Amino acid sequence: MKKRIVFFEAVGGTDKGEDGHRRDTMPMVNALSTHGWTGEVIQLSDEILRDENESKKIYEFVRDNADGYVSRVNPGNIKEEKLYFEMLRKLCDDGLVGMPHPDAMIGYGAKDALTKLADTELVPDDTYAYYDIATFKSTFPKSLAKGERVLKQNRGSTGEGIWRVRLENAGDYGKFDSLALDTKIICTEAKDNHSEERKLGEFMDFCEQYIVGDNGMLVDMTFLPRIKEGEIRILMLYKTPVYVVHKKPAEGGDAFSATLFSGAKYRYDEPKEWENLIGWFLERLPEIRTKLGNYDLPLIWTADFILDTDENGKDKYVLGEINCSCVGFTSPAEFMAKIAVMVGENIVNIVSEKKA
Ligand SMILES: Nc1ncnc2c1ncn2[C@@H]1O[C@H](COP(=O)(O)OP(=O)(O)O)[C@@H](O)[C@H]1O
Ligand SMILES: [Mg+2]
Repeated sequence: MKKRIVFFEAVGGTDKGEDGHRRDTMPMVNALSTHGWTGEVIQLSDEILRDENESKKIYEFVRDNADGYVSRVNPGNIKEEKLYFEMLRKLCDDGLVGMPHPDAMIGYGAKDALTKLADTELVPDDTYAYYDIATFKSTFPKSLAKGERVLKQNRGSTGEGIWRVRLENAGDYGKFDSLALDTKIICTEAKDNHSEERKLGEFMDFCEQYIVGDNGMLVDMTFLPRIKEGEIRILMLYKTPVYVVHKKPAEGGDAFSATLFSGAKYRYDEPKEWENLIGWFLERLPEIRTKLGNYDLPLIWTADFILDTDENGKDKYVLGEINCSCVGFTSPAEFMAKIAVMVGENIVNIVSEKKA
């Protein structure tokens, strides 16, 4: 073993500190050195990825010098995601430990992870993914006829293109098998909780943009009204929960978004304060792993939950989203150093196990 790990970052972007790196990257590099390992940051850009010579040099360097990589590139910060994933895939094929493998990033992180888990306790079984416009337009008027829905686009992570959709006339739920295109609906976007009056047909036309193109899709999920009580995010390091963020959406109106920009309030808790949720979630990890393609769990990832009520009137949690492409842990600041140390230990353990 070389005891050397490469951290891939994107050049620039608003997430970088004074040293030009993501603020939580160097703490991880330093944590590795306490184990006698070396961490090295390589920054990529669209220019570098497009330049065959340059990207070949980087690929060969990492292949010949590192045991594995940690991917810290926000897919929103580069256009050449395909080329980036190709490089990562080759490195994994060469025997490097991918943290994570690019297919794991897609398997865990894409919004249709929810539909792959729809036959488990984690996700309601009436959760659908649309990959083509025709299926979306024939199925969505049926699902909305039964009750309020959330439509989620696959791209971005700031609530953009995440729409809560309800009938203007709430008394109409359950009356029809499918809805007419001129049905009046109210749409609220999670980006900023703004609401718009639309007609169903026209709104579905507008949503075509989310389905076309690379990785385009829309997930259609029941609206969970207890989002008002908060979204609960578990930050995971591989198999270990590190902390829980309780995100309470702004009060009033149609507000349902847990993003900071939309006015949600965040509170950070220790895992022991969420024993029930975490115990239940950890028991489901093997199942999650199998259903999402059997890739190794990501190194740094999050799972978001929303409360629901089961047939017996008891609380139950519903999985709303997994993130694993570029999860940071800079806030709360007092946790960062401690988490970086844990990441260092995890990397050494994971790589040592895989390379043994
Ligand atoms: N099924 C749902 N019921 C109620 N609120 C939801 C539901 N799904 C998502 N939300 C709200 O919308 C926000 C954005 O959705 P999310 O799936 O997390 O997408 P993003 O990738 O933009 O973070 C969530 O933080 C949550 O507040
Ligand atoms: Mg989210």
